[in-house]
Amino acid sequence: MKLIFFGPPGAGKGTQAAMLSEALGIPTVSTGNMIREEIAAGTELGLKAQQAINAGELLADEIVIGMIKTRLAKPDCAGGFILDGFPRTVAQAEGLCGMGIDVDKVIDIVVPDEALVRRLGGRRVCLKCGATYHLENNPSPAGDRCGRCGEPLSVRKDDSEAVIRSRLEVFHMQTEPLEAYYREKGILFSVDGDSDIGSIAEEIARIVRD
Ligand code: AP5
Ligand code: MG
Ligand code: ZN
Repeated sequence: MKLIFFGPPGAGKGTQAAMLSEALGIPTVSTGNMIREEIAAGTELGLKAQQAINAGELLADEIVIGMIKTRLAKPDCAGGFILDGFPRTVAQAEGLCGMGIDVDKVIDIVVPDEALVRRLGGRRVCLKCGATYHLENNPSPAGDRCGRCGEPLSVRKDDSEAVIRSRLEVFHMQTEPLEAYYREKGILFSVDGDSDIGSIAEEIARIVRD
C-alpha cells in the first residue's frame, strides 16, 4: 500500500500517519522530519534548510525529490509506505511519478485555517522519538515530558503565529493545486479533519480498506 497524507500544516498528517503506520506495519516517510534531522545533525543540507524551514518556506524541489528517492529505495519501503508532507508541489508529484511509483490513494485531510492556527499554537513535540502532543487535545501522560521516552517536550521553531500564517499561505499557493492533480487521477479521498483524532483515524482506515 502506497499512500500520501495530504493536508495543510497542522491538519494531523503526522498524528494520523503514526497510527496507520503501526496498524499496517509500513513506515511513514516525512520530509519535514527528515529535514529537521539534517538540521539537528548539522549537515550541509541542514545548514541550507534551516532558514527556509524556520520561515515556513519550501525547500527546492530537486532537494526533496532527491531525499525521497534515496529513502524510498531502502528495503523497509518495499512493502509500502505513507508519505507525510511530500509531494508539496506539482513538480514534486511529477518527480515521484518519474521514479515509477504508483500511489494507491491520497488521503486529503481537510481543516479550516483558523482551527489550524489554534492547533499549532498548542503543539508540543519530542525531539528524541518524534512523538507529537497537544496541550489540550492530546496531552502527554507525562506532563511536560514525552510519554513514550521521557524527554522534555519542545515547541517547533515554525509554530509561532506569524510563521504559521506564512505556512498556510505557502500551502494555499503552492501545495493546494495538487488536490486537483490527484482528483483528476481518481485517487483523492477527502476526510473531515476537524473532528476528534479517533474518528478521523477510523475514517482513514475505512478508506484504506475499501
Ligand atoms: P512538515 O513537518 O511537513 O510540516 P507541515 O506540513 O507544516 O505539517 P505539520 O507537521 O505542522 O502538521 P501535521 O499535519 O503533521 O499535524 P500534526 O499531526 O503534527 O514540514 C515543515 C517544513 O519542512 C515546511 O514548512 C518546509 O519548510 C519543509 N518541507 C517539508 N516537506 C517539504 C517538501 N516536500 N518540499 C519542500 N519543503 C518541505 O498535528 C498538529 C497538532 O494538532 C498537534 O499538536 C496534534 O496533537 C494536534 N492534532 C492532531 N489531530 C488533531 C485533531 N483531530 N483535533 C485536534 N488536535 C489535533
Ligand atoms: Mg507533521
Ligand atoms: Zn519521546
